[in-house]
Amino acid sequence: MPAKRIGILTSGGDCPGLNAVIRGVVKAATQLGYDCVGFLKGYEGLVDPVSYVPLNHKNTTGILNQGGTILGSTNKGRFAATVGVADRVDLDPELLTGVATTVEQLGICGLICVGGDGSLAVAQQFHERGIPVVGVPKTIDNDLSATAFTFGFDSAVACATDALDRLHTTAASHERIMILEVMGRHAGWIALHAGIAGGGDVILIPEIPWTFENVCHKILDRDSQGKRFTLIVVAEGAERPDGGLVARERSESGQVRLGGLGSIVAAELEERLHRETRTAVLGHLQRGGPPTTFDRVLATQFGAHAVRLVVEHRFGHMIRYQPPLIDSVPIIKAVNGISRVAPDGAAVQAARALGISFGDRPADESPFARILAESQDASAVEEHLETAATVTAQAIAIG
Ligand code: F6P
Repeated sequence: MPAKRIGILTSGGDCPGLNAVIRGVVKAATQLGYDCVGFLKGYEGLVDPVSYVPLNHKNTTGILNQGGTILGSTNKGRFAATVGVADRVDLDPELLTGVATTVEQLGICGLICVGGDGSLAVAQQFHERGIPVVGVPKTIDNDLSATAFTFGFDSAVACATDALDRLHTTAASHERIMILEVMGRHAGWIALHAGIAGGGDVILIPEIPWTFENVCHKILDRDSQGKRFTLIVVAEGAERPDGGLVARERSESGQVRLGGLGSIVAAELEERLHRETRTAVLGHLQRGGPPTTFDRVLATQFGAHAVRLVVEHRFGHMIRYQPPLIDSVPIIKAVNGISRVAPDGAAVQAARALGISFGDRPADESPFARILAESQDASAVEEHLETAATVTAQAIAIG
């Protein structure tokens, strides 16, 4: 049995860049004389039945730019109980003993666990049991508090921005309100960044309570400027104005599957404004496909530095990116909080300066209170739209 062996696994929802981490780990470890094994299907591969593959240059070549994970992953199963922010559920002690036995029998001197908050909470329990783990953070949501960025986020934002670019042209052609629903369970980072990058007019996120009235104000404000279409970006985890998340279903593990807020917003806007509205739900397209260059670089660095943590015996630590540094933090600190968009943060301020609405206040000038008050009355809205059309015609005439 080799004296130096590193194990790696990818756990939880996948994201672009996981393969780049695996490749980074294998390359860096091999340089130092370690060999590597990869456990299959997240933590499940660690025990009963143990399933793993040897990892080497041959089977990790060409995966840098591939989405998904060659090791497979799952957010269900025996290790999924702790998924959720600060929701610690102790793992079955027998399961932990099984994992410790596998690690010992395979001669693994360091187990690199790549995952989000739930998966890292599991890694923390491994650490408390004396299993030599190090963590690597991943999630498209970018909501882990201990790191400025997780890989996968930039790729998801690029995907959402591309979708907005496409919606923009069709929205303008048909003078429609277009809603794009993006992922973001606890935090609105994807919606915020894609909304700014893709020219969104309204961004609805979990961190900023909003109202339909304010969204209508923004749409009517745009109308008055001759802009007869509006792009709205909605994070799946934003609450409805009357409170409550919009969920599709609750899984066996108790995890709520979010989705559907976009359609609710669309229906309400159609009702209030009598304007054609369409919704696109981006869903798992954000999680698939090749990582962006930024994510490839970040994931590769995370892989290489995770090996360094193993070599230095800094177990129970997680790699993180705090620009310009890549350093580490105890996993327990990383799973104790989430990173949410600051309502007065730089990106939100910049967006507001451009006139982007977060639905929390009326558009700067809101001469439309009357129309909104009478919004059940289609003729009042029609009257307003006629005014808007005149404004458009005048704007065209002026050039
Ligand atoms: O946590 C990442 C995430 O993409 C969330 O934004 C989303 O709610 C969830 O995963 C979806 O997970 P699943 O793969 O179970 O549909």
